[in-house]
Amino acid sequence: MTTMESLIGLVNRIQRACTALGDYGGGDNAFSSLWDALPSVAVVGGQSSGKSSVLESVVGRDFLPRGSGIVTRRPLVLQLHKTEEGQQDYAEFGHMPRRRFSDFSLVRKEIQDETDRITGKSKQISPVPIHLSIYSPNVVNLTLIDLPGLTKVAVEGQPESIVEDIENMVRNYVEKPNCIILAISPANQDIATSDAIKLAREVDPMGDRTFGVLTKLDLMDKGTNALDVLEGRSYRLQQPWVGIVNRSQADINKNVDMIIARRKEREYFATSPDYGHLASKMGSEYLAKLLSKHLETVIRSRIPSITSLINKSIDELEAEMDHLGRPIAVDAGAQLYTILELCRAFDRIFKEHLDGGRPGGDR
Ligand code: GDP
Ligand code: NA
Ligand code: MG
Repeated sequence: MTTMESLIGLVNRIQRACTALGDYGGGDNAFSSLWDALPSVAVVGGQSSGKSSVLESVVGRDFLPRGSGIVTRRPLVLQLHKTEEGQQDYAEFGHMPRRRFSDFSLVRKEIQDETDRITGKSKQISPVPIHLSIYSPNVVNLTLIDLPGLTKVAVEGQPESIVEDIENMVRNYVEKPNCIILAISPANQDIATSDAIKLAREVDPMGDRTFGVLTKLDLMDKGTNALDVLEGRSYRLQQPWVGIVNRSQADINKNVDMIIARRKEREYFATSPDYGHLASKMGSEYLAKLLSKHLETVIRSRIPSITSLINKSIDELEAEMDHLGRPIAVDAGAQLYTILELCRAFDRIFKEHLDGGRPGGDR
């Protein structure tokens, strides 16, 4: 692994350990500011725009509930951890830390069950996130957040406030300056009406941290194309727009798997008369690479502030560890220790490889 890869891996593990620690010590402590300082990617868009499908393609596994209507009803904080070549893929939930899932259809079922556990079987939503970690040699170290779809009207059985509740929940994530926004818009709707772009424009007016993703290119009316959007003429962002062709509902019903879906997507762009010239910069695999490259740049530029926060956390954690023995849960003590060790490792690697050995770094 490169130095950058191992630093991003450590950032990922620190986030996970902070999560496992939960609300220990109250809301505003060293860990919540540490979490907020670390970049993550939130997937936003209107209902059924293809958010969950894009997320699955980026991960390269089938594991999310998908379909029409409001399927995602709690935030899903998904951490991808890159493991050594040859290792088996597995998943773990924050709410059942001792169980390893290697069957990803059971992961999907557990997300549904855990959603229902909090919201009931109704169509209610809840801001309480589900934490899921996936370990695989085939992923890039990344934290992704799947969010309920923005909507304009409440449906039968939902309170009127749901439209606003969802928007507030999503805004909570995307307004953080370290949040990278994956703004999903379907190509078969006018981009001017895109919920994702509307919200992204509000919280990131310069378009510095927004990635525009255009799904459902295969569903556009014959004789029309999305070049104005994909080439940045409709709505300009600092990052290039990426077009995507996910699996259709019919593909899902036929159990078309990820490998075949990705191949079909590649073929779609390679043979498209409209998009052929953009083929190498389209599709979910390209999007995954683009995101991880961007994340690397962000982490690199934030290293001085992450390092100083980490040093502050180390001080606070050491003080905290000194007090162990007071009534503190054994688990919390172990988690504190884990965070401390990870922070120390980050600081060590950073000093050894990135700041030329100068203590304190380039502050
Ligand atoms: P979400 O509600 O935004 O998470 O959207 P989903 O990922 O659950 O997708 C909603 C529906 O749209 C599903 O039936 C998907 O199969 C379908 N869908 C998503 N993206 C595409 C696409 O690029 N092409 C086609 N044909 N269908 C898609
Ligand atoms: Na949906
Ligand atoms: Mg969804």
